[in-house]
Amino acid sequence: MSINVIPSGQACGAAITGVDLSKPLTDAQVAEIRAAWLEHHVLSFPGQDISDDDLERFTLYFGGFGHDPFFDPIGGREHIAAIRRDANEKSPLFAENWHSDWSFQEHPPAGTCLRSITIPPTGGDTLFANQHAALDVMPSDLRAKLEGKIAIHSAQLAYAPDGAYGEKDEDRSMAIRPDESARETRLHPLIRAHPETGRLGLFSCMGYIIGFEDMTQEEALPLLQELYAWQSSDEFVYRHKWEPGMLVMWDNRSVLHCATGGYEGHDRLLHRTTIAAYGH
Ligand code: SIN
Repeated sequence: MSINVIPSGQACGAAITGVDLSKPLTDAQVAEIRAAWLEHHVLSFPGQDISDDDLERFTLYFGGFGHDPFFDPIGGREHIAAIRRDANEKSPLFAENWHSDWSFQEHPPAGTCLRSITIPPTGGDTLFANQHAALDVMPSDLRAKLEGKIAIHSAQLAYAPDGAYGEKDEDRSMAIRPDESARETRLHPLIRAHPETGRLGLFSCMGYIIGFEDMTQEEALPLLQELYAWQSSDEFVYRHKWEPGMLVMWDNRSVLHCATGGYEGHDRLLHRTTIAAYGH
């Protein structure tokens, strides 16, 4: 039986029904899901009663496991991290800024899978911004400033010992492990073709992008800010509302994502894997 693909009606995203992720999938089902993922960039699978074994099996249909730096995995699993916030936690929200997961790696993960476990009654939505659409309708003066630019990526602002999740970050329930290696830099073209579809898009944003090659910081920062505002405009955004028993997979090559708050006094827990870069 074919899967059902129900587009969100927003800038990206679709819900998938007609498949039970607690059981092995057929090659045909995996091919249909991959096609829907490449078209809609973010897929949600509601009403799934799945375990961590099911999450791992699902992830491996789409590539190997990505390498997750700066997090400890959950006990007994090498490739699953907990995205966790306890009801009374006071630390700044994790990932409440736009980003593409681990874009500072040489081969950043193609995708990310999140399995919801504890979902608060309100708040805690995840936002996704379609970076193909953002490029397609970008004003020509901004595009002219960005065409051909090579972006410098680094995790330093977040995960270096003096970064946002570094030594001053206290009382966080998530197992984040800052490290000096966060200061390493890697280069990626800002405008690039999706490795599977060939569609042009913007890759990553200010935060993990700390500058542009052959540009001073004084020149790069205002450009990065202008770009960030454009990339995250409402017209490119899909707001994902979580339910318990839901799996979401997104394509880091096509979207930015951002966590949101609004659930003070409630626990939130999801388990996450990353899908390795295509061919890695
Ligand atoms: C993430 O960026 O992986 C977490 C997103 C979220 O907590 O909504």
